[in-house]
Amino acid sequence: MSTIALILAAGLGKRMKSTLPKVLHPILGDPALLWVLRALPAEVAAAVVVVHHGRELVEAALADWAAQGLLPCPATTVDQGEPLGTGHAAQRAAGELDRLGCGRVVILCGDVPLVRRETVARLALADATLLAMDLEDPDGYGRVLQRADGSLEAVVEHKDASEAVRAVRRVNGGAYALPWEPLRSALGRLSNGNAQGEYYLTDAVMDVAGRMPVAVELCEPSEMLGMNSRADQATLQAYARDRINGGWMDQGVTFLDPAATLVGPRAVLAMDVALAPGASLTGAVEVGAGTQVGQGCVLSDCRVGHGVLIRPYCVIHRSEVGPGCQVGPFAHLREGSRLESGVHLGNFVETKKTTLHAGAKANHLSYLGDAEVGERSNLGAGMITCNYDGFHKHVTTIGKDVFVGSDCQLVAPVTLGDGAIIGAGSTITSDIPSGALALTRAPLVLKEGAADRLRQKQKARNAK
Ligand code: UD1
Ligand code: MG
Repeated sequence: MSTIALILAAGLGKRMKSTLPKVLHPILGDPALLWVLRALPAEVAAAVVVVHHGRELVEAALADWAAQGLLPCPATTVDQGEPLGTGHAAQRAAGELDRLGCGRVVILCGDVPLVRRETVARLALADATLLAMDLEDPDGYGRVLQRADGSLEAVVEHKDASEAVRAVRRVNGGAYALPWEPLRSALGRLSNGNAQGEYYLTDAVMDVAGRMPVAVELCEPSEMLGMNSRADQATLQAYARDRINGGWMDQGVTFLDPAATLVGPRAVLAMDVALAPGASLTGAVEVGAGTQVGQGCVLSDCRVGHGVLIRPYCVIHRSEVGPGCQVGPFAHLREGSRLESGVHLGNFVETKKTTLHAGAKANHLSYLGDAEVGERSNLGAGMITCNYDGFHKHVTTIGKDVFVGSDCQLVAPVTLGDGAIIGAGSTITSDIPSGALALTRAPLVLKEGAADRLRQKQKARNAK
């Protein structure tokens, strides 16, 4: 019999005031539900996600995460239909849990993203446990009442609680591990005779607690904070940021201003990486040793080698930057950009689906799309690839040791052979052989004194 995670995610999330389902709102770039799924330890064989509002979007997100290999176990969904409470959600999932051969169920909420893997692992190994937390302000939560031996006696929802019970500050975190068999039968006995007219999962948990001891395990409140509003989202992001940045500082990463630096949960940073204020690293970002990421840089799903200098305000997405490169300020590496070692990309250079081989340089004001640039080639200021003819994209191939003067247009498809030199201001529309010099400038027109004569003419005209 296996341990299966049941993740409740059918609620509307009314207080988010959004068309996006609550569980897809991000914390440091990753949606809340992805955080929860990634917290599942190896003991959990599969996850069942209960969905309803925004079902198609949640299912599409799950398929995308699975395709990217981001999920630790297979995840299926169950549509709850009109959500009638947490107990109703669990009832609806019973068939799927049976199908998966569930022996023990670990129940989590899709909108409680900061639960740690270690915590879920402890739950996954426990016989019967409820996670609780002690809060200064327990308003809104179910209160946890314990027997003399510490085991669970009751969970009383805030709206059903007397004044005396509301004074209890130990609250239900909404995460549980329970043997499936007794929970399954308890779910069959649920009624909705309470202040909210809902089927409470907590009633089923109490039912189980009447038959066997259910332990109450305390955890950090930040782990059990739910995302119910935009303010909650901001609070959670701040907790996640402090946790992640603190962890990297312990590993030898410099944060000049940790409160103003965003590093997502899937980033991997080597020793002596230095991140300036306003840097944001989300998705699968890897940064090598000693690399400096300047102020305001936005990196997503990219690999950056060691000893790289990324000057301020660069945007790098789905790209690779080799060791020893210098990038920016204000460079934009779009999807499929690949810089080998020691490449220099300067200010206002945009690249897309382009490889620059070792030591190549494009230091000022360039666009390189669907291009390959050979080793040590130097592209002058304002050089652009004309990769799009209005219908199709075409490839530009530049050989090794090529020199392209300033303000050239390379009209693709086009190839520049090794060692070619292109004169400034040229528009290249056909292949240039290796070692050739190419120029397409119009001949210079020079009229001595003509500028002065023109000015005098204008002056005379204005005087009239
Ligand atoms: C629940 C607990 C409460 C606990 C609190 C912790 C119950 C009855 N109460 O209360 O003791 O202190 O969580 O956060 O369980 N959901 C569904 N379908 C539904 C209703 C909810 O999938 O029909 C999902 C929601 O999307 C959410 C989770 O279940 O992810 C919790 O639901 P929520 O309405 O927030 O429960 P609370 O009333 O806060
Ligand atoms: Mg809630």
